[in-house]
Amino acid sequence: MPEIHITNLYERKIISKSLEKTALELIHENFIDWMHACGKKGRCTTCKMIVIEGQNNLSELTEPETKYREQGRLAENERLSCQAKVLGDIKIKVADINKFPHMDYSD
Ligand code: FES
Repeated sequence: MPEIHITNLYERKIISKSLEKTALELIHENFIDWMHACGKKGRCTTCKMIVIEGQNNLSELTEPETKYREQGRLAENERLSCQAKVLGDIKIKVADINKFPHMDYSD
């Protein structure tokens, strides 16, 4: 069962029982507030996650992610959490620019 480890949310860990869900679906199912301004449609980058480990455990880049990569708006170590399905263990963090003021982050 894939595990999402979110380092700057006090090492929070989520276990997934599915290989069909995006990182954002799993994050929300676990009641973690995570920015998603366009409503998970791949039309913004506010849901991006910084991938520290496990890039190969995510599904292939989607069309919107490829577009943002080409525009330089999504770095090599970043993925859109609403697009990337979690196929194995990943270690991620919330980007500084997408932190909520009401949330407590550990770095
Ligand atoms: S929520 Fe907008 S791209 Fe993911």
